[in-house]
Amino acid sequence: MVVLGIETTCDETAAAVVERLPTGRGRILSNVVLSQIAEHAAFGGVVPEIAARAHVEALDLIVAQAMKEAGRSFASLDGVAAAAGPGLIGGVIVGLTTAKAIALVSEKPLLAVNHLEAHALTARLTDGTPFPYCLFLASGGHTQIVAVLGVGNYVRLGTTVDDAIGEAYDKVAKLLGLGYPGGPAVERQALGGDPTQASLPRPMLGRPHADFSLSGLKTAVRLEAERRAPLSDGDVRDLCAGFQQSVVEVVADRLRAGLKLFRKHHGKPTALVAAGGVAANEAIRKVLHQVAFEAGTVLVVPPPELCTDNGAMIAWAGAERLALGLTDTLAAAPHARWPLAEVTKPAHALPVTSDVTILDIIATGLPKIAPAKDG
Ligand code: KG4
Ligand code: ZN
Repeated sequence: MVVLGIETTCDETAAAVVERLPTGRGRILSNVVLSQIAEHAAFGGVVPEIAARAHVEALDLIVAQAMKEAGRSFASLDGVAAAAGPGLIGGVIVGLTTAKAIALVSEKPLLAVNHLEAHALTARLTDGTPFPYCLFLASGGHTQIVAVLGVGNYVRLGTTVDDAIGEAYDKVAKLLGLGYPGGPAVERQALGGDPTQASLPRPMLGRPHADFSLSGLKTAVRLEAERRAPLSDGDVRDLCAGFQQSVVEVVADRLRAGLKLFRKHHGKPTALVAAGGVAANEAIRKVLHQVAFEAGTVLVVPPPELCTDNGAMIAWAGAERLALGLTDTLAAAPHARWPLAEVTKPAHALPVTSDVTILDIIATGLPKIAPAKDG
């Protein structure tokens, strides 16, 4: 089963072709990612209108390149997947509309994939991780602990009540003049700093739930920076080290709480899986290993290029859904907001045989994804 996947929810224009083998294992045939970092850098963050325009300009070429590198024609695909949200709505519309056009013209099933579900299922593509596992998803837009019980079967155990972890890294980088994206820059500065020099809070530490809060920590860094201004290079390094140390302690504590909740309600997880750009951070990876070990499980972290946004994860999630008959109609809506709990589950599936086309599916009018809850 071979699926094209398109990702345009934030600032990466990406397309990939992935094969799902009959054994359930995956193989990446191509994976093309065009980052828009240069377009947004001058503004210190992603500008939605610039992102949408850049997706429009690049997507056709990126899809063509992914197909060429995979040595595939549209006619030889089994399905066409696009991230239908959550994300910046302009970009989501560009990717989903392109996928619909390809699906319609080549008479292939459409898979309107939830971007978070794609992050959640990536460990099955890279490592064949069996259900159920505990996912820690930490990116610029999301910070969640999720019990991944099956395709379409997700229980959120914890989330951030304000900023995402990647967002906090980006904001700290901005206020310290380190540029965008902030995560790698703050991590680099933190290496040379003393984390004990600034006294910063550890929000949510010790709470029985598994939620996060990052905005108070970011504000504390800002106040400390203002107190010390003008900042020396050493001050910047110490503030980065202090901020990162606080994040590491909070992540460890929140994941311990999340894994406890997991065990209570869903038994022992097969793994702790990390995903999202923040999982590229060495200090955070180190503590994740430790937390997984303490919980008697293993840590699975897909390679960095599959932790950050990419088309392969969308294609793979599409293939997993297609294998269960979870296809979508051309009426599938783009979503700015689309919680994991609202994705369609296999119980609502229609079986998909090789001779069912997108036109047949449109004719039946089933199945449909949950209505949009944007905003
Ligand atoms: O998953 P991703 O590529 O895009 C989405 O946000 O969906 O994640 C990007 C985020 C940015 O906020 C970036 O600053 C953060 O991940 N990030 C990091 C590191 N590398 C990327 N945060 C901390 N340490 C890093 N090494
Ligand atoms: Zn993402």
